Amino acid sequence: MSQNARNDATSGNLRRLVYYSRNRVAGEPAAMHETIRGILATSRTNNARVGVTGALMFNAGCFAQVLEGPGEAVETTFERIQQDERHGEVSLLAFEAVEERLFTDWSMAFVGASQADAALYGDMAGESGFDLSRMTGDRLCAVLHGLALEEEAAAA
Ligand SMILES: Cc1cc2nc3c(=O)[nH]c(=O)nc-3n(C[C@H](O)[C@H](O)[C@H](O)COP(=O)(O)O)c2cc1C
Repeated sequence: MSQNARNDATSGNLRRLVYYSRNRVAGEPAAMHETIRGILATSRTNNARVGVTGALMFNAGCFAQVLEGPGEAVETTFERIQQDERHGEVSLLAFEAVEERLFTDWSMAFVGASQADAALYGDMAGESGFDLSRMTGDRLCAVLHGLALEEEAAAA
């Protein structure tokens, strides 16, 4: 059992938060990838320190993210994320108590990179066919988890 899972089993304070937002990272695809890499590196360091796990997805139009962990750690992290000018119009889909994590072993999984590439290079500016506003938090979380598992299997 991982350290996170061990702590969760005794705390009774596990929360999951799901949101999506508008991507405001501008520029060439290469610069954009560099920015995303930076966000992921910072996220992984900070999240591991406070016991937050989750997944981040992005395309040319939007970000979607799941954060899970102790309630205060998730809230503090989300407050910081909301201030970030690299995205905007943050829409909260879920913030709820959960029994266990879905992303136990990922301090921040990065998923859907191949779709992100398609969106970046395929001139699908703004609206993709993937309409996040019509998804529930549970559904979006399940989609990100499925992608994380697929990408882990592909990388193995
Ligand atoms: C879409 C998006 C997702 C982010 N996710 C996280 C995250 O999971 N954890 C985190 O610490 N910072 C995340 N950030 C970065 C924060 O907004 C902020 O820049 C960072 O936490 C500052 O950390 P520092 O003070 O260690 O530099 C995210 C930013 C964006 C735009």
